[in-house]
Amino acid sequence: MVMDVTEYQGELTRAHWDLLLDADPSLDMVLAYTPPQLPEAEIFIIGEPKAPYAICVVIPVKGGFEIKNIATIMMMRRHGMAGALIKHVVELARARGAGFVDIGTSTVSHDQIRLYEKQGFQQDGILRDFFLSYPEPIIENGLLARDMVMLRLSL
Ligand SMILES: CC(C)(COP(=O)(O)OP(=O)(O)OC[C@H]1O[C@@H](n2cnc3c(N)ncnc32)[C@H](O)[C@@H]1OP(=O)(O)O)[C@@H](O)C(=O)NCCC(=O)NCCS
Repeated sequence: MVMDVTEYQGELTRAHWDLLLDADPSLDMVLAYTPPQLPEAEIFIIGEPKAPYAICVVIPVKGGFEIKNIATIMMMRRHGMAGALIKHVVELARARGAGFVDIGTSTVSHDQIRLYEKQGFQQDGILRDFFLSYPEPIIENGLLARDMVMLRLSL
């Protein structure tokens, strides 16, 4: 399995949008943290650039970086692609002298939290009611997503 991570600098395609909206159903949020609205955002992919298996979006924040979105197409999940993307981002952040990498998810997204903790992230705080401002309720594991847990990997 080819797990090469590459940076994508072209326009977002339908395939990219399918992935990004799977991880974050708020179109407005995704638009706000991707180019062209946020030119400093970086997009990393595994697979075919315009129709990748997996994607993640990283933005610079004060003192570090934040992974704002990460998704793998259903058919290719549990092959380590999200893990490979996270490792790539962490190494890049380290090489750039960043202090940390952050990632947030809903407090009921147990598999995602587990994945990030396996990669060395530690829970770092709760953004209460974060998902209540979303256009539609998000249900994960049969539970309403309401709060966001932030996880941080300190470098
Ligand atoms: C969350 C998500 C990005 C994970 O992507 P992925 O590519 O399947 O992630 P990985 O394969 O790296 O890891 C997922 C699991 O597969 C396991 N795994 C990794 N390689 C494996 C392999 N070769 N064989 C079997 N399992 C493997 C990992 O250990 C992990 O399992 P665990 O957390 O139960 O221990 C993906 O499920 C997804 O796109 N979900 C929808 C969008 C979403 O929720 N995004 C995150 C929003 S915060």
